[in-house]
Amino acid sequence: MSEQAVYVPVEILHRFMQDVFVAVGVPEEDACICADVLIASDLRGIESHGIGRLKMYYDRIRAGVQFPTSRLEVITDTPTTTVVDGGHGMGQVIAYRAMEMAMRKARAYGLGAVAVRNSTHFGIAGYYALMAVAQGMIGMVFTNARPSIAPTFGVQPMLGTNPIVFGAPTDEECPFLFDGATSITQRGKIEVLEREGRPTPAGWVIDQQGEAATDTSAILRGLGQDRYALLPLGGAGEEFGGHKGYGLATIVEILCAALQGGSYLHGLTGFDAQGRRQPYALGHFFLAMDIAHFIPLDEFKAIAGGIVRQLRASRKAPGHDRIWTAGEKEHEMEAVVRAQGVPVNPHLQREILVMRDELKLAAYRFPFEA
Ligand SMILES: NC(=O)c1ccc[n+]([C@@H]2O[C@H](COP(=O)([O-])OP(=O)(O)OC[C@H]3O[C@@H](n4cnc5c(N)ncnc54)[C@H](O)[C@@H]3O)[C@@H](O)[C@H]2O)c1
Repeated sequence: MSEQAVYVPVEILHRFMQDVFVAVGVPEEDACICADVLIASDLRGIESHGIGRLKMYYDRIRAGVQFPTSRLEVITDTPTTTVVDGGHGMGQVIAYRAMEMAMRKARAYGLGAVAVRNSTHFGIAGYYALMAVAQGMIGMVFTNARPSIAPTFGVQPMLGTNPIVFGAPTDEECPFLFDGATSITQRGKIEVLEREGRPTPAGWVIDQQGEAATDTSAILRGLGQDRYALLPLGGAGEEFGGHKGYGLATIVEILCAALQGGSYLHGLTGFDAQGRRQPYALGHFFLAMDIAHFIPLDEFKAIAGGIVRQLRASRKAPGHDRIWTAGEKEHEMEAVVRAQGVPVNPHLQREILVMRDELKLAAYRFPFEA
């Protein structure tokens, strides 16, 4: 985080986000969910998807490409599966409700799967898996996103950063939560680099010649226009397994689009054939598995806990004194962020003040104001 960042107490930003959502027309209860998902990202130290994304939602609602009210329409429903249409509402609310549906089915039948069409950006995917984990279930979450990853041996952005999430309870306070994009990095992290005025590391992004690109501002301007592409996990070519990252991103695209009959790849650019803005029409897929249908929950937790403990206790590489398991860093971060506040850099400070002033939320005074 840049040196000029000012740390703002979590409660202030949480309340502010909720008030901003309400002020742009999101119903109170839904605004609570949206603000909760965003602040959870900041609390977990994922700066790319918290308060830093608020202005994006604000702009999209005001531009009419995302609706503040979220009416979920059930398209098909069986005891274990559902397809819902999110009607281009708030992605966080659509995802929250969809995961609730999956969990209800899992509680009754062991498994619940929900495919979602016509949704919008829902923030950190891990949030929804943690809902299942809190109920003694395994939660899996997938979403597609606007095209930015080039296929192996290609240069054209085709696939979204398509995250994969797997969350499972353990006998420790910290669950196992793998929550990661299928690209080496994702747009949000490049946006953080821009706010900090830093170059993009070579190997994350390629240009139209397939060469490494490092100019952060140029990359952000050119990503949406097909001038740059993100690389899949494993990087360029096959040498370090780039084809496997490409395959994983494609699996997510199939789960999120084909099961609900929706848009995919270049159908998710947010623009129509005439170049006019249109809703993103994203797809998600949620899976909940009720562990007690397989094995007593305590037994599962003890084994899952044993797995993560043995991994962490294994021999360290020279120069390293700690091995992590997925979800641990973010879990530990929460106490730090609660104590020190959320870092807000000058770019974000300006965005926050614009929203406050335009929405006349005059009661808010932030620590970064003179
Ligand atoms: N909504 C969207 O369209 C969208 C798209 C892409 C990403 N995202 C979100 O962005 C967030 C960040 O994604 P990311 O890919 O940059 O995550 P990341 O690379 O920071 O972390 C990925 C996973 O690796 C784990 N991890 C980190 N260091 C580790 C270590 N040393 N050992 C073991 N595990 C370790 C983390 O706990 C996490 O589960 C996620 O919450 C994701 O859901 C959302």
